[in-house]
Amino acid sequence: MNSWKLVYEGFDPKRESLREALCTLGNGYFAVRGAAPESEPGEVHYPGTYLAGGYNRLKTEIAGRVIENEDLVNMPNWLVTRFRPEEGDWLNLLSVDILFYHQELNLKEGLLARTVTFRDKQGRETTLIQRRFVHMEHMHLAGLETTIIPENWTGRIQVRTSLDGTVINAGVERYKQLNSKHLSPIGSEAVDEETICLLVETNQSSLRVAEAARTRVYSREELIEIERKLVEHPGYIGQEFFIEVARKKPAKIEKIVSFFTSRDFAISEPALDSVEAVGHAGGFDELLQSHVLQWDHLWNRFDIRLENSDRPQMILRLHIFHLLQTVSRNSIDLDVGVPARGWHGEAYRGHIFWDELFIFPYLNLRIPSITRSLLLYRYRRLNQSRLAAQAEGVSGALYPWQSGSNGREETQHLHLNPKSGRWLPDYSHLQRHVNTAVAYNVWQYYKVTGDREFLAACGAEMILEIARFLAGITTFNQELDRYEILGVMGPDEYHDGYPDSETPGLNNNAYTNVMTVYVLRTALKAIDALPPKRRRYLLETLGLKQAEFYRWQDIIRKMRVVFHGDNIISQFEGYDRLMEFDWEAYRQKYGDIQRLDRILEAEGDTPNRYKVSKQADVVMLFYLFSAEEIQELFTHMGYDFDPESIPHNIEYYLKRSSHGSTLSNIIHSWVLSRSDRPGSLELFHKSLESDISDIQGGTTHEGIHLGAMAGTVDILQRCYTGLEFHDDTLFLNPNIPASLPKLLHENQVPGQLV
Ligand code: BGC
Repeated sequence: MNSWKLVYEGFDPKRESLREALCTLGNGYFAVRGAAPESEPGEVHYPGTYLAGGYNRLKTEIAGRVIENEDLVNMPNWLVTRFRPEEGDWLNLLSVDILFYHQELNLKEGLLARTVTFRDKQGRETTLIQRRFVHMEHMHLAGLETTIIPENWTGRIQVRTSLDGTVINAGVERYKQLNSKHLSPIGSEAVDEETICLLVETNQSSLRVAEAARTRVYSREELIEIERKLVEHPGYIGQEFFIEVARKKPAKIEKIVSFFTSRDFAISEPALDSVEAVGHAGGFDELLQSHVLQWDHLWNRFDIRLENSDRPQMILRLHIFHLLQTVSRNSIDLDVGVPARGWHGEAYRGHIFWDELFIFPYLNLRIPSITRSLLLYRYRRLNQSRLAAQAEGVSGALYPWQSGSNGREETQHLHLNPKSGRWLPDYSHLQRHVNTAVAYNVWQYYKVTGDREFLAACGAEMILEIARFLAGITTFNQELDRYEILGVMGPDEYHDGYPDSETPGLNNNAYTNVMTVYVLRTALKAIDALPPKRRRYLLETLGLKQAEFYRWQDIIRKMRVVFHGDNIISQFEGYDRLMEFDWEAYRQKYGDIQRLDRILEAEGDTPNRYKVSKQADVVMLFYLFSAEEIQELFTHMGYDFDPESIPHNIEYYLKRSSHGSTLSNIIHSWVLSRSDRPGSLELFHKSLESDISDIQGGTTHEGIHLGAMAGTVDILQRCYTGLEFHDDTLFLNPNIPASLPKLLHENQVPGQLV
């Protein structure tokens, strides 16, 4: 096995859409799924092209309500390259005999290649070799090369190559009842013999998108002139032509494509610049060279090497690869966030969640300028978050659970339970803890990089406004002499309310409360870290007065955390009164019970009644903080927390988790590294399989899980090495599981940490 290649032998229609997600190519600006260029969207294939941050909103009437969703738009399909022997059938892998099929994603080079030999109904055998890249350096360019070799026949082939803007968003089954037509045709043009161009616009966000394609045909390596017929209808432009082919002699079609939008920098108009870009672009091989060079530079900086362990090594590289294809140097200044599911599919609509928390640490240590740019995405939405806080009657800033274009709350109002077919209210926007993640990320970035300029210009303002909001939703309970946060949801989305209550939300979610204390303390530290003048200006601008700080300090000392049993931190107030769940019976009945929420709802029940978690909640505290830090936080709150109880807490919740989110295995692997290293390693390996083996049984094809991908890499980078940063000092406190292969240091370049 080659640890630089994801290889598939044989065509498997059932797993094709999973492969498409895993073989997505992107460069931080745009991405294309690894769909076959001849394929049409349907049960087997789903070609999708996505622009980083390319959103559009549509309204739909559903279950008697009009709801609006903001989607990551499926952009015009530039791959379309279809062919057939004259008078034969257009190639469709489902209706030919496949004699040979090999597909490989070369991670080192960022190249996707496929070789297929097939026999059609007339007995003609043909080999098809395709290679493609999305250029890592020239971010507007991509290339697709198709070589056709008739193995036992001579004749003519008909080719159609196009730019198809008639596509809709149809990549997620459960969104199918929602409106999905985002693109309006604006124009198309055959610019010259070789070049066509398409211009479309998103129908709400008015984003203009242009693609141009330059198609050249080679016979036996010689560029040939061919007669082309234009195929054009609204939103679609293509060329059709015939090529004379001879037995065993290759014919090659080279398609160089450019992608521009009205939001790009340094352009006049997207169509014009698109045409210019393909006009000046080199050939496939020339472009490939500079693309590979760029990847080589990236790997020098980002690779993590594991000795003698081909499969884990390959998967780790796959994870790093997809991370860098989602956010890269090309994304800096694009004003985009890091989407939970990559730009690899339409699940979660390309939205930005708290998953940043699992992604930034790896970037912080490797290329912090990317984190900075992703934090700026949040900073630019601070005003929108202020409005959201105001709407709740609180000052400060309330960041949304799901964020898209302008930072408005994008969490869907209704979601479909595919198991019951019912549309249900979605309360996940009550996960106010996303705010604590934003503040945590700002502070971590500052701690790791020492970037005081960022802290002074943007970071501190975000932390202070978040602190203000969190303090604003904190209420004082006279009777208990403690502060509380009521009516929220923690990371465990199975619990969105009390079983007997009409109103959603839970009281005193331990994670939210402790994180609030962390944020308030951090806010006070951030003020201290500012240069005096900036501190004064910022406090004046925000109108932050001493009285507010006194209240923050009081909250820090008196925040409420509920405990039950033997020093178990209760996930929320009342958790101990919930029923134990019969895990065994449900496992027997359903097999896969990762999505217990859907199972129980379909049965007319609800997880709200049970001690079940979708994912780590309380346990998140042990993921984010060392035992010393946790103890310090609790001591400040006036609780006598014994770090010895941490393993019991982990065990308690681990037993009651279905790991319905891929993040959960990461977190549990991390926290077990101190108390149960074999257990930690087992979950690490399970996390490695999250996407490549689609362990959730059918989610990866809708988009990869970037948090879990980055999380696995970070387990090696920070968790097993015990790498921590405190007060300008780097700490190393390794917890390396005995059977973990060696992490190699060879070929390091300055700045590389592991
Ligand atoms: C998880 C969230 C996560 C989201 C996006 C959900 O299934 O429960 O914690 O933020 O997926 O990855």
